[in-house]
Amino acid sequence: MPDSTAPKSSASTEAAIETTALTKTFGRQRAVDGVDLRVPRGSVFGFLGPNGSGKTSTIRMLLGLTQATSGDIRLLGAPMPGDLRRVLPRVGALVEGPAFAPFLSGRANLHRLDTADRDAPSASRRDRVDAALDRVGLGHAADKKAHAYSLGMKQRLGIAGALLMPRELLILDEPSNGLDPQGTREVRSLIGSLADDGTTVFVSSHLLSEIEQMCSHVAVMSAGRLLTQGTLDEVRRHGVQRIVVTTPDGAEAAAVLAGLGLEAATTPAGVSAELPVDDTEPERITAALVAAGVRVRGLQVTGATLEDRFVDLTGEGFDVAG
Ligand SMILES: Nc1ncnc2c1ncn2[C@@H]1O[C@H](COP(=O)(O)OP(=O)(O)O)[C@@H](O)[C@H]1O
Ligand SMILES: [Mg+2]
Repeated sequence: MPDSTAPKSSASTEAAIETTALTKTFGRQRAVDGVDLRVPRGSVFGFLGPNGSGKTSTIRMLLGLTQATSGDIRLLGAPMPGDLRRVLPRVGALVEGPAFAPFLSGRANLHRLDTADRDAPSASRRDRVDAALDRVGLGHAADKKAHAYSLGMKQRLGIAGALLMPRELLILDEPSNGLDPQGTREVRSLIGSLADDGTTVFVSSHLLSEIEQMCSHVAVMSAGRLLTQGTLDEVRRHGVQRIVVTTPDGAEAAAVLAGLGLEAATTPAGVSAELPVDDTEPERITAALVAAGVRVRGLQVTGATLEDRFVDLTGEGFDVAG
């Protein structure tokens, strides 16, 4: 077992977040069901799942905002919520619907937040607040009252709040919720720059494409369960690839594929078949089809995207557009 009193020696090997059989029930519903999460230090870790899959409930437990029904949590090597007071100052967080004083400006809100942080030196408060506002692109709107902010601006103000002090770990719950495409891009590049500074970023999203674009690692949640986790490549690689052949000669094509050991299904446009995981030679199939006189109008290998992998795992489509 890693010794939490010796952070120096364990820092490199220990995960930023580690949960064991983490569970949260609401009445009879298991909102989070036996989740074993391992978030390596230095990763940009995407916590992916459709709405209602248990992301926010998990995050609230990680941060000690709600009690786990059962299971264990280690944050930056220390047990939570036992070491909450020692750990939370090293963690910046944005959780669903950050609350601000509506009649204070964005700047005044951050000022207030920073004042509540006992570790934040007051002499540098003004600079710290301005830097955080600039970093999320709210410098120009700093003196507007928070209630006049758009949802996207409120979301960015929430992120600015998490960035006031340097943090080892950032936990961001759906940070691009309510942002327009431009705002989403800005948040993505912001997360990239934080990661470049060595901060571990744990970011939840119900948007596949977003996770695919910015994360080094991913975990997939569905109905409270963690279906898979690993580097983006690892998770994708286990996906099932399919080959789809567009041809008017469906029956002949199916016979050729059968000869190659592939079980093909005929479709109105041609045939499709599952490829073995390690099959890297669609050329072989093309050649066999052509040699057999099959008129190939198109040949496509699909799969190996996160979306395919998600569909494989859950048997469900993923609400890609949000
Ligand atoms: N305070 C609560 N009381 C009852 N049910 C809840 C509560 N919070 C969340 N849930 C339920 O738990 C499930 C997971 O919710 P949540 O963690 O918010 O998912 P996500 O963040 O992935 O959308 C949902 O079915 C939700 O309705
Ligand atoms: Mg949520």
